[in-house]
Amino acid sequence: MSMFAKLVERVSDNPVLFIFFRSLLESDFKAIRSVIRRDLALGGKLSSLDLACGPGAFADLFAGDDYVGVDLNARYIDYARRHRQGSFVVGDARAVELPDGRFDQILIFGLLHHLDDASVRSVLKESKRMLKPGGRILAIEDIPARSKLNVIGHLLHNIENGEHIRPSEEYRKLYAETLTVAREEVLRSGICDYYAAVLTP
Ligand SMILES: C[S@@+](CC[C@H](N)C(=O)[O-])C[C@H]1O[C@@H](n2cnc3c(N)ncnc32)[C@H](O)[C@@H]1O
Repeated sequence: MSMFAKLVERVSDNPVLFIFFRSLLESDFKAIRSVIRRDLALGGKLSSLDLACGPGAFADLFAGDDYVGVDLNARYIDYARRHRQGSFVVGDARAVELPDGRFDQILIFGLLHHLDDASVRSVLKESKRMLKPGGRILAIEDIPARSKLNVIGHLLHNIENGEHIRPSEEYRKLYAETLTVAREEVLRSGICDYYAAVLTP
């Protein structure tokens, strides 16, 4: 592993540095936040799951809702419990210990590009299981940097530990096996390009 890759890994493991550097690279997540605000119903007392919530950088958007964050990383969950509002659980998105039909909406941001196809299928199946009838999922995932001039974007994707960054079509194909793709968009957030999709059962 290169020195730079090691540095990125160390930064990623620290909740404060993780939030700081990602916000810097992604212009305070303005574009991502506006997609979340548009595609999910916030502040309406709905039940919302943030699957792979990390240190809870988006928990504030769900203020007033019945909001639950789940993440595999206990350090992130510990940080989120101390600094964010909501309920936070350490758990694996491929097999979540929460009841069927528990949530009106689920946010999946930046998880699936870390997982192989079999694990993505498990996450989608679990998400569908936890949705109430009429519920929706918003999935926002990294795609390869679109502009050749985006040197930092290419570099980060090359060394980032998400080894499954896919083109939009591949995500769409996986989603369509389990869910309906009701809306989709490719967007830029700072130096990162994303595929955002609203998925319904
Ligand atoms: C790029 S971060 C995104 C975190 C958060 N959604 C955000 O945007 O700040 C990816 C997250 O996925 C979590 N993760 C990876 N595999 C997971 C799994 N199988 N179940 C739950 N969380 C997982 C990591 O711990 C990490 O917090």
